[in-house]
Amino acid sequence: MSGFKGKVWLAAAAVCAAALSVPAVSHFDDKEMPQSYRQSYFALLAANFGPMVASVKGEVPWDQVKMENWANDLAALSTLDVMRGFVDGSDKGTTRAKPEIWQDKADFTSKMETLHTELASLQQVTAGGDREAIAKQVGAAGKACKSCHDEYKAENYLY
Ligand code: HEC
Repeated sequence: MSGFKGKVWLAAAAVCAAALSVPAVSHFDDKEMPQSYRQSYFALLAANFGPMVASVKGEVPWDQVKMENWANDLAALSTLDVMRGFVDGSDKGTTRAKPEIWQDKADFTSKMETLHTELASLQQVTAGGDREAIAKQVGAAGKACKSCHDEYKAENYLY
């Protein structure tokens, strides 16, 4: 594994490992609505992005129609206002969201916007059907997940 492809795999593998390490939790707790909202959002992201990563890695057979469906759903998810889930006062509770998010909301929001830009590209590139280009864009989107998680998501529940 070397060069560009190696990097794509690594980024993809890291995202996948992160997604897989999440234990099954039940979302939408009526006492913690914003926390549930954002966690459900991320669960949906992972449910669509995870299989794309697995396809790029060759762990599941490539199905172009499914790839396009996942990419379309990721682009659709980008239109939701996920920042609703990070409203002031929702920093505590059953959450892995670090307090730094509320200290620099602008930076956090811009990282979210970067993800949405990458997911819009992913939809376009996936529709094009070029597997090499799709792999590259999956890697780029995965980096957007990781760069936010590295800074703003804790490994374990915080409180
Ligand atoms: C701008 C920041 C940001 C980006 C971009 C981002 N995440 Fe996250 N993610 C978070 C934060 C913060 C949490 C913790 C939420 C909480 O526990 O309240 C989280 C939680 C998660 C969880 C756990 C959800 C649960 O069940 O509690 C998964 C899975 C996840 N993210 C996957 C992804 C994937 C896949 C991507 C990219 C396609 C992504 N995230 C992009 C910030 C981000």
